Amino acid sequence: MSATAAQHPPFGSVFADVMAIAWYRDGQWGPSSVVPLAPIPLHPAAHVLHYASECFEGFKAYRWADDRIHLFRMDRHLARFRQSAESLVLPVPEARFVGDMVTALIERCHAVVPEAPGALYLRPALIGTTANIGAAAAPSTEACLMVLASPVWDYFSGGAKPLKIWVEEHATRCASHLGCTKTGGNYAAALGPTMAARRAHQVDQVLFCPGGDVQETGAANFLLIREGHILTRHLDRSFLHGVTRDSLLTMAGDLGYRVEERAFSVDEMVQWVKTGEAALSGTAAVLAGVGSLQRAGETITVGDGQVGVHTQRLRSALVEIQQGRAPDRHGWLQTV
Ligand code: PLP
Ligand code: COI
Repeated sequence: MSATAAQHPPFGSVFADVMAIAWYRDGQWGPSSVVPLAPIPLHPAAHVLHYASECFEGFKAYRWADDRIHLFRMDRHLARFRQSAESLVLPVPEARFVGDMVTALIERCHAVVPEAPGALYLRPALIGTTANIGAAAAPSTEACLMVLASPVWDYFSGGAKPLKIWVEEHATRCASHLGCTKTGGNYAAALGPTMAARRAHQVDQVLFCPGGDVQETGAANFLLIREGHILTRHLDRSFLHGVTRDSLLTMAGDLGYRVEERAFSVDEMVQWVKTGEAALSGTAAVLAGVGSLQRAGETITVGDGQVGVHTQRLRSALVEIQQGRAPDRHGWLQTV
């Protein structure tokens, strides 16, 4: 897999030819198995299809230069997966049960894990399968847990190109109590405002700032960065608690940055980016630099409009750990 970036398939569009799957019935999980990737049997009345009982996760496994495969912070992702399941009143699988499905799957599709700068993106998804369209106000008593594997490269087509962001000061990304739940409905809810902003303002992403309060984009957290200082929203229920965010903040502290976690307004952000940097963080995005912010009637260039030096430095520091070229001081990697 040494093809140039231009030849790589779009993020998440190709899959290993196997997947892991398990079903929950009669109050317990049945055995999991690794099977050929194929459509799954689902009743048309399945709870997920009508009442959106679904949550998922996304994390990566890296092939190091010595050919061994390493998972990055799967424990944190599985803890979040369990919290998401609990908040949607879905059966909550043990972290170990899901982790074993992931490692069994990787063992079966070892060959398709790309070399750096690619990775294998793992996507556990949990859906409510009870066939009952009357169960609008009742949880699904049956469920399916599957894990997909997808060889990935850059999430944002254009690689290291600075992003154009629409600052959305009215629409919310999701229901206020579900910001830190990773559920498909949140992405569906963000789609309308995102497509409208793309059409009207030709932006790449939308930063949700309801009432002027900066939260996050549709699929990544938001960080303000400058010499020796990082500012990002404190953990509350309004946004997804990113594992990449946590890793970057930890690394930034190690590198001597002051890490400030608190609420901040659009006006403060606009002041910051006159001389500072802005970036999106996430498993898929890694740390992607923002080049400009667009707000009703106004385009604000972030710094000099290019990906900032601190953004590049922090991104490289993280990627070096993930790819085994820098020491894993915090015990974030697990060999498969
Ligand atoms: N926020 C949203 C809405 C996301 O979809 C993601 C991606 O998973 C993130 C933030 C970043 O989370 P993480 O760094 O755990 O991938
Ligand atoms: C991730 O970074 O894992 C995400 O969830 C982004 C995804 C929705 C493509």
